[in-house]
Amino acid sequence: MRLTVVGGGSTYTPELVDGFARLRETLPVTELVLVDPSLERLELVGGLARRILARQGHPGRVVTTTDLDAGVEGADAVLLQLRVGGQAARQQDETWPLECGCVGQETTGAGGLAKALRTVPVVLDIAERVRRANPDAWIIDFTNPVGIVTRALLQAGHKAVGLCNVAIGFQRKFAALLGTTSERVHLDHVGLNHLSWELGVRLGGPDGEDVLPRLLAEHGRAIADDVRLPHALLAGLGAVPSYYLRYFYAHDEVVAELAGKPSRAAEVAAMEEHLLEMYGDPALDEKPELLAKRGGAYYSEAAVDLAAALLGSSPGVQVVNTANRGTLPFLPDDAVVEVQARVDGDGAVPLPVRPLDPLYAGLVAQVTAYEDLALDAALRGGRDRVAKALLAHPLVGQYRLADELTDRLVAHNREHLAWA
Ligand code: G6P
Ligand code: MN
Repeated sequence: MRLTVVGGGSTYTPELVDGFARLRETLPVTELVLVDPSLERLELVGGLARRILARQGHPGRVVTTTDLDAGVEGADAVLLQLRVGGQAARQQDETWPLECGCVGQETTGAGGLAKALRTVPVVLDIAERVRRANPDAWIIDFTNPVGIVTRALLQAGHKAVGLCNVAIGFQRKFAALLGTTSERVHLDHVGLNHLSWELGVRLGGPDGEDVLPRLLAEHGRAIADDVRLPHALLAGLGAVPSYYLRYFYAHDEVVAELAGKPSRAAEVAAMEEHLLEMYGDPALDEKPELLAKRGGAYYSEAAVDLAAALLGSSPGVQVVNTANRGTLPFLPDDAVVEVQARVDGDGAVPLPVRPLDPLYAGLVAQVTAYEDLALDAALRGGRDRVAKALLAHPLVGQYRLADELTDRLVAHNREHLAWA
C-alpha cells in the first residue's frame, strides 16, 4: 500500500509514522511518500521517519519528494496536512482580530476565515492532481479549517473525508477515566469541526449504555479543566463541549487572556525549531516527548483507522467530517458535519443522531451558514464576500466590525489571495 502525505515535512509527521509503525497489522503501508516544498524539512523529517520504521522492524520504504505530481502517483490514499503560509501566516490570524476585540484563532472566527481563504484554492489544486494521477485514491484531509476544506473537496467531486483528533482525544480520555479500552467507548459526538459536543458516551457499541452522566458526576471537574470551561457549565448542559467552544462560550475572557500573552503560533514556531533540531540527530529513532506538547495527540491513530477503513481492510465506526445528508435535518444535505460514521471502502456514512437541542442546533446552523459563505468567498474571492461571511459569523455579526476585520484580513493576506 502506497500512502502519500502532503505536508510531509511537518513536525507532526513523526507522530504519524509512529502510528504506521505500531499499527502495521491494521494498515500495512509498504511505501510512505512525504511531499513538501522544503527540501531541508524533508531531509530532517524523512531521516527520522526511516529510523522510526527501522527501529520498529517495519519493512516499509520512505520516499521524500518536492514534486507533488510524482509524490501522488500510484498512491492509494493521500493525507493532506499542510499549512499555507506556515506558522507566520498563523501568527497573523491569531493577532489582527484581537485589534478589533475579537478572538484570534487559527480556525475560529476571522482568523479561521483568513486560513480558509488561503487554503481552499491550494487544496483544490492538489486534489485535482491527485485525481489525475489516480482517480481511485482517497483523500484524507487534516488540513484546517477541516469543515470548510472538506466541503470544498466534496463539492468538487473528490473522494475525501475530513479528520480531526478532538473526538479521538475524548474517546481515549474517557476510556482512561472509565478504566476500559478505547474500542469500547463510542461517542455521541455531534456538530461541526471545532464546534462539537459529546452528548453521550456509550459503552460497548453505538447503542450501548450512556455513561456520560456517571462520567460527569465522578470526573466532571477534570473534564471541565481539560476543555477549559467551568464545571458548572458542563454540569448544567449535561454534555461536554469541545475545547473550541471556549471561543464562543467564553469569548471575551479568551480575548482578554490572549491579548496579554504570546500567540500559540509563536510558541509552536519555537517548538518546531527545537523539534527539527532534534529530528536531525541521527541517534533519535522515536518520536520525541516534546511532540506531545503539540495539539495533535492521537492524530496518527485516527488517521490509521480511517485509512484502513477507506482502503477496505477494516471497516469501522469513527468520528469524521462528511456530508450531512439529512443527519442534522435542519442543515443542507451538502453541509459538512462532524459525527460518528460507518466507514468502509465506499466512504463514510453518518450514523443517525438524536434530535439536537436548540441550544446546540442554533449555533451549528449559524456556523454552517458562515461556512457556506466562507467557502463562496474562498472560491470566488472579493472583499464583499469576505465581509458577508464575517457578518454571518456569530462571533462578529455587526457591519462595522465585519468591515474592520475584512480590511485587516485582506491587508495581511494579500500575497495569498489572487484577487486582493
Ligand atoms: C488540535 C486540532 C487541530 C489543530 C491542532 C493545533 O489537534 O484538532 O486541528 O491543528 O490542535 O495544534 P498546535 O500544536 O499547532 O497548536
Ligand atoms: Mn482539528
